[in-house]
Amino acid sequence: MTAILQFKNIEKKYNDKAIIKDFNLEIEQGEFLCMIGSSGSGKTTLLKMINGLILPDHGSVLVNGKNIQEEDLITLRRSIGYCIQGSVLFPHMNVEENISYVPNLWNKRDKQKTKAAVAKWMKIVGLSDELRTRYPSELSGGQQQRVGIARALAASPNILLMDEPFGAVDEITRKQLQKEIKDIHQKTGITIIFVTHDINEALTLGTKILVLDQGQIQQFAPPKTIVEQPANEYVERLLNGKTIPIK
Ligand SMILES: Nc1ncnc2c1ncn2[C@@H]1O[C@H](COP(=O)(O)OP(=O)(O)OP(=O)(O)O)[C@@H](O)[C@H]1O
Ligand SMILES: [Mg+2]
Repeated sequence: MTAILQFKNIEKKYNDKAIIKDFNLEIEQGEFLCMIGSSGSGKTTLLKMINGLILPDHGSVLVNGKNIQEEDLITLRRSIGYCIQGSVLFPHMNVEENISYVPNLWNKRDKQKTKAAVAKWMKIVGLSDELRTRYPSELSGGQQQRVGIARALAASPNILLMDEPFGAVDEITRKQLQKEIKDIHQKTGITIIFVTHDINEALTLGTKILVLDQGQIQQFAPPKTIVEQPANEYVERLLNGKTIPIK
């Protein structure tokens, strides 16, 4: 297996305080990595280092073996899907325009191709076709979240970064979105890095789980290992909130 993503000796400080210190990690292609840990443990910081929104003070992040600091960051960001909690849709664009934003940059001339891609992704994330011409303010939170996921996927990324993407939706919508993202992962083989606060969500979705506390890896293992052999007390405490049986 090849590593699609590598963190090498990463250090990040804010106001002289090291948030991330000597952080090393390799993620293989096709993995569904769930990152979990207390608030402030550095999850978002690490995620944003993958698409260069945050740069490390030391060390390097490699995507497909290439140091991202030597790449064009705009091109890199277009090749990596990014979904965050809450709506980050373009408010002045309707659903179709939001989803086709990146594909339009690529195939300006072939409008039909883009239209077909939008229809495909709307279907996959469970959005009915009649929502195509609605604006973000005319959608429910769950629908906005789905548009955000469709927009990220429509760019055909190899890597999808998701920062607590289902945090703001009700339990039923959350379950549906979990099922959809799991299906998308299985069908496309995309590599997903998914930040969550919810251990049940991590255990349901992840092929690997990274438990983080204060910028330090507590455990990096498949869900089954996390449950059966928690590495330390921190992981054990996290598992106390577990309600689902592990597959
Ligand atoms: N721009 C910044 N300036 C100063 N400190 C920052 C900045 N961004 C993040 N931090 C600090 O870095 C630490 C890690 O932040 P980060 O956003 O990565 O945490 P997180 O694990 O994503 O937390 P949460 O679960 O609450 O989203 C926190 O203590 C945060 O306050
Ligand atoms: Mg965060």
